[in-house]
Amino acid sequence: MEQNIKFPVVNMSKLNGEERDQTMALINDACENWGFFEIVNHGLPHDLMDNVEKMTKEHYKKSMEQKFNDMLKSKGLEKLETEVEDVDWESTFYLRHLPQSNLYDIPDMSDEYRTLMKDFGKRLENLAEDLLDLLCENLGLEKGYLKKVFHGTKGPTFGTKVSNYPPCPKPEMIKGLRAHTDAGGIILLFQDDKVSGLQLLKDGDWIDVPPLNHSIVINLGDQLEVITNGKYKSVMHRVVTQKEGNRMSIASFYNPGSDAEISPASSLASKETKYPSFVFDDYMKLYAGVKFQPKEPRFEAMKNATAVTELNPTAAVETF
Ligand code: OGA
Ligand code: NI
Repeated sequence: MEQNIKFPVVNMSKLNGEERDQTMALINDACENWGFFEIVNHGLPHDLMDNVEKMTKEHYKKSMEQKFNDMLKSKGLEKLETEVEDVDWESTFYLRHLPQSNLYDIPDMSDEYRTLMKDFGKRLENLAEDLLDLLCENLGLEKGYLKKVFHGTKGPTFGTKVSNYPPCPKPEMIKGLRAHTDAGGIILLFQDDKVSGLQLLKDGDWIDVPPLNHSIVINLGDQLEVITNGKYKSVMHRVVTQKEGNRMSIASFYNPGSDAEISPASSLASKETKYPSFVFDDYMKLYAGVKFQPKEPRFEAMKNATAVTELNPTAAVETF
C-alpha cells in the first residue's frame, strides 16, 4: 500500500495559485526520478472521459472481443501451459490524429464514437503541448522549445492506441504488454479506473501505477531523455494481466514529426554526452524491431549505423 502514497499525483489546478512553485517542483521531481506522474484537474471534462470509457468498452464487446478470442485460438494461447514471452495479452487498435487523421478509415466505429474520439484527441493534443511547456520551464528552456523541436517540417506525430486487456486465466504465464520504454515524446494515458495492471520499474522494483478516477497518467519517452541529455528519463513499464476484469487503457503519444532532428538541447548537453543526434524516423525504424529490449543499446546504436544490425531486431511491432 505504501507505494501508492508515494506515486506522484499532480493537481494541475494548483498551477494557477499559491502552490505553483511546489507543483512545478513536484513535476520536475517526477520527471527526474519516476519518468511518470498522474495528473488530476487537468481540464478534460469528466463526462467526456466517462463517455470515452463507456463507448470504448462497448466497442470492444461489439467489434474486438471475438477477434481477440480468435487470436488466442490461432496462437494456441487458450491453455497457457508454459510461459509465453513473444505475445502480449492485449486487444488494440490505433487512431492517428496528426499529421493526418485516419479516424475515418477505422472500420466498425459508430459516428458518435468517432466524433467523441476526435474531440478527446484534440483536447489531449492541447494538454500535451501545455505539459511540454511546463517541462521547458522546469528545464530552463525557452517556452515552445520542445514543441518546435518536435515540429520538424510536417508538425508532430500524434496518435492514440486504444487497448483492452481481457481477463487472463493464468497471469503468471503472460504479460498484457511486455516491459519497454516508449520511443517518443510525451504519453498521456487514460486508464481504467478499477482494473489495475500498469507497473513501472523503479530502483529494481515493479511499482503499480494506481487507478485513480478521471486522472491521466503521464510518462516520458526516449526522445525526452535524449533532448534533456538524461536529466529526465524514459522508464521501463509493463502491463500485467489479471484474472478478473477487463482493463481499458487509451494511450496517446505526442511524438516528433518523422523528419524532426533530435539531439540534446545545447544548454543541457555536456561535451561528452552519451546521447546521439538523429532524425526521429530513423530512431523509430530501429525501435520497431527492438521495442522490448533495453533502451541503452538503442541510443548507442544511433551513434553508429553499423551497430544497428548488431542489435538483432526481431519482428517489427506496430507503434507510434
Ligand atoms: C504502451 C503502454 C500501457 C497501458 O502502449 O506503450 O505502455 O496501460 N501502455 O496500456
Ligand atoms: Ni508504453
